[in-house]
Amino acid sequence: MHCRAISCLVISIVCCAALEQRPSGKSGWTGKLLVVPMDGSHWTGVKAVAEEMGRRGHTVIVVIPEISMYLGPGKHYITKTFPVPYGQDLINQMMVEHVRELTAPGQSLLKSVTSKVVHLRKVFNCMDSTTESLFKNHELIEFLKEQNFDAVLTDPAHPMGAILAYNLSVPAVYMLRGMPCGLDAAATACPSPPSYIPRFLTQNSDRMSFGQRTLNLLKSMLEPLESKFIYCPFEKLTSNFLQRDVSLTEILSTGAVWLMRYDFSMEFPKPLMPNMILIGGINCESRKPTDNGEHSGGARIFS
Ligand SMILES: *[C@@H]1O[C@H](CO)[C@@H](O)[C@H](O)[C@H]1NC(C)=O
Repeated sequence: MHCRAISCLVISIVCCAALEQRPSGKSGWTGKLLVVPMDGSHWTGVKAVAEEMGRRGHTVIVVIPEISMYLGPGKHYITKTFPVPYGQDLINQMMVEHVRELTAPGQSLLKSVTSKVVHLRKVFNCMDSTTESLFKNHELIEFLKEQNFDAVLTDPAHPMGAILAYNLSVPAVYMLRGMPCGLDAAATACPSPPSYIPRFLTQNSDRMSFGQRTLNLLKSMLEPLESKFIYCPFEKLTSNFLQRDVSLTEILSTGAVWLMRYDFSMEFPKPLMPNMILIGGINCESRKPTDNGEHSGGARIFS
């Protein structure tokens, strides 16, 4: 897939989402976009969109923690950072563990699920702490409120941006590879029959034997429990911040557009809701010149 073409598509979708708020949306109109990115490979595609939107004259503000893996300033957007209570060594240590998780030799499903969920819990603990730091930063939150953004672009896998968009009452554009434990299907009320949609980590395909189907069904029944385990601290943070009890599913269900970073050459076919748009594998880096000065044709794909 050609990164440029995909970026253009995403940009026009993001623009449309912002323009929809203005019936008089004529060309030449510039809007205000708040970007609350997620760290890691998730950032590559989002950064390209933030840069391009800024280049086209929109005001783009990217809110990021002071400590991160890849997040950082760009040429065409404004960066706002906020302090967090952890250091770079924690991030580095999690990276090492992440690589170990990914390269672990063939484990049983139970072992693989428990170790992945425990690892995810650690990653999410760090994200909780980032979210808490942002929500407690009254000065920054007030500043963001005053900006009257037209749209928020965020990856809901780290729900900080989604919660913020909900609080600011600004339409949210989600750009994601997926949510752990089928939370995306739950939030969009999208049908996700376990009879032919293989569940995360089961290594099933969309054609399953009776045994595989049974396992798939059991795994799908466990999903609400898994997402509770992964996201429960967020729910507490959210209620504290919003000053009322709102579930994460409810917040995510207010997302205006879901830009899904895959297509059906990468995933087994499955039902989608009308506001879920397949944009292909956009988390790839732009082409870099090779040593002899020519452009290499490939794209680096992360997962
Ligand atoms: C946003 O958060 C503030 C406090 O942080 C709260 O008073 C307000 O009700 C929230 N707004 C919404 C729409 O949730």
